[in-house]
Amino acid sequence: MKRRQVLTATAVATAATLGTAATASAAPGHGEHTPPGLAKKDTLAWAAGGVIEIGSAVAGGGHHTEQDYPTPMSEEIYRETLGREVTSLSAENQMKWDYLRPDRETFDFEDADEIMDFAQQHGQVVRGHTLLWHAQNPTWLEEGDFSADELRDLLKEHIDTVVGRYRGRIQQWDVVNEIFTDEGELRLNDNIWLRELGPGILADAFRWTRAADPDALLFFNDYNVDGVSAKSDAYYALITELLAEGVPIDGFSTQGHLSLRYDFPEDITENLQRFADLGLETAITELDVRMDLEEGATPTEQQLEQQADYYRRMTEAALSVEGCNSLTLWGFPDVYSWVPGTFEGEGAATVLWDDYTRKPAYYAVQDALAEASGRAGHPALRR
Ligand code: G3I
Repeated sequence: MKRRQVLTATAVATAATLGTAATASAAPGHGEHTPPGLAKKDTLAWAAGGVIEIGSAVAGGGHHTEQDYPTPMSEEIYRETLGREVTSLSAENQMKWDYLRPDRETFDFEDADEIMDFAQQHGQVVRGHTLLWHAQNPTWLEEGDFSADELRDLLKEHIDTVVGRYRGRIQQWDVVNEIFTDEGELRLNDNIWLRELGPGILADAFRWTRAADPDALLFFNDYNVDGVSAKSDAYYALITELLAEGVPIDGFSTQGHLSLRYDFPEDITENLQRFADLGLETAITELDVRMDLEEGATPTEQQLEQQADYYRRMTEAALSVEGCNSLTLWGFPDVYSWVPGTFEGEGAATVLWDDYTRKPAYYAVQDALAEASGRAGHPALRR
């Protein structure tokens, strides 16, 4: 994989002095001549004005471990941007099974704790991600040859321990992640929990999570469920059934991993609204918009405009559905995105360039948030 450049705060400051790429006006996000008191308002968080949580994934684990840059959370500029731009944090990988459970006996909470502490220091809420999933399970679990009873006990122990540790401090948990295929079939083969324990384990997982933290909102979360489709229909049917049985489900969220290769999901509002009509909260949890991009190439103006348009419309969708409580970006800047490692020939999916300057997509999100909060046109947001 190509070596990607990461700017430290010092590098940005030096570049600003030298008048090179990362200028003071962009480092990171301050207007060069913005009067004191206004610059700190020139963020996504301030533009949102409390009408919705605007979040980001906290980069770490997963694909980051294969890169030759330092841990993002050790970068001053990264921490500063994360602390000022958003009101909600999601653990990109740090609360997944393979991260928390290196072996059967050990729970490693170091990095998850760091996220919780960072959020507390910055007055941010946290989305917990995730408790029951087919991916990123440790090998000792997947290949452990456990009996059904042992697996049930393992999942309950995991939920009790992890959810219990952060009781009262997590705003929402992705209890169940990605259980349906695009055709709307339950993943009965590749999801160890569904395969070995049957679909009844889903209700148990929600009940155990509720018992471990009565205040957290409990979500089903998936990708490719932005619009009405076989997959989102499957969630609608399952959730309707589980709610009728009294299972404590509070929310349905769509991840929002979009690509300029595909049309914008026009019916996202209609889709989220039908879940809201079931009495649920909704959320957009992992928004990014990737585009065709050769390694080392720069996006065209037209690509950037289209990307900004997709970001703006996703933000407007989140804002227009009553009870859609958060919009989370799946990380920034581009250098930390999971996209190029997974989709060959695609990239530039986040709202910030690698030197933390803002892309048109950033302004599209900021403007849409400011419109909704009544802060549009405020001098702090003038550019
Ligand atoms: O586990 C394998 C390891 O066995 C192998 O040797 C190594 C070599 O490539 O890869 C390891 O897998 C990595 C995995 O994280 C586990 O560490 C993948 O390469 C890497 O791409 C993966 O990245 C994470 C991905 O979830 C895993 O599914 C990303 O950092 C993370 O951003 C991404 O986040 C997910 C959400 O949790 C759920 N929704 C989709 C979203 C994007 O995929």
